[in-house]
Amino acid sequence: MIDRYGRNIDYLRISITDRCNLRCRYCMPESGVEPLAHDDILRLEEVLSLCESFTALGICKFKITGGEPLVRWNAVSFIKKLKAMPGVEQVTITTNGLELAQALPDFQQCHLDGINLSLDTLDAETFRQLTRRDGLDKALQALDLAAASNIPLKINCVPIQGVNDQELPHIAELAREKVQAVRFIELMPIGLAAQYQGIPADRIREQLAAVFGPLREDNGKIGNGPAHYYAIEGFKGKIGFIDALSHCFCQQCNRLRLTADGTLKLCLAHDNGVDLKTPLRAGASKEELQTIISEAVLNKPAHHAFSEHPEETEGKGMYRIGG
Ligand code: 5AD
Ligand code: SF4
Repeated sequence: MIDRYGRNIDYLRISITDRCNLRCRYCMPESGVEPLAHDDILRLEEVLSLCESFTALGICKFKITGGEPLVRWNAVSFIKKLKAMPGVEQVTITTNGLELAQALPDFQQCHLDGINLSLDTLDAETFRQLTRRDGLDKALQALDLAAASNIPLKINCVPIQGVNDQELPHIAELAREKVQAVRFIELMPIGLAAQYQGIPADRIREQLAAVFGPLREDNGKIGNGPAHYYAIEGFKGKIGFIDALSHCFCQQCNRLRLTADGTLKLCLAHDNGVDLKTPLRAGASKEELQTIISEAVLNKPAHHAFSEHPEETEGKGMYRIGG
């Protein structure tokens, strides 16, 4: 699907739940969130049925996110079914890793195309502080198992002032042998995150260069996203940066998002979306749903409004959108 700005939209991020087994301070309140009512959440069969309309429109790459996607009952069998659907070329997942170890054999068997493991710290106390839960051991165990599997593995780390700023080289070190890439993601001022201060990519690069020597810009592309990558001498994996605020990459945006309640979101940073659940449940045909989706794509915003129009910016937590 080509949108009105000439962007080829071929990638859908699907949030299958807004629940999570962690409570990262920049994402969720301590109390958790008022979970969406059971009936408001698409059944996974309904998601699969919508995916048939998406593939018919040329969407061929899918990322499964949450909340934490692996806390949803039957997430693994859903992923296997999606992976086997005609027209689906690529399925990847973003997870905090706590429930990953059990799922790995199935993921290997169905040839999952990639795992993004969210890991902001390697320090047990910082992990407990930041996520308000224990779980670093489980995440690290899953990291080792996934690294030993044949599924491409990337680490996503959100650097935050006063939280993990001192250990970024330690996290980058994972790209020496273990993982395909360690990516540093600029904190976006969405929901609770607005209270925290991210760290600019230039500063991180300086910090890494002081420890590992010069970072060489790498032109090879990995994955579907807006990360730009650097190589470090002696590292098998790359170091990536995703900085939506400092570098607007909206001109290359290739994605749509589907939230767990069946809303099609056209842009991460805009607080609007198109309801697909109501027509789906009212019995709309695949073709009717395709029309709704392709008309919505015509309204995909040109770019995010973090700076110019903060009032338009998404006010929900990332757990509702899935990153
Ligand atoms: N800005 C940037 N990244 C965020 N994430 C959650 N909230 C934010 C935010 N405000 C990240 C998580 C995880 C991924 C799903 O999104 O750390 O890596
Ligand atoms: Fe795409 Fe919106 Fe993200 Fe920009 S902010 S890259 S338009 S989703």
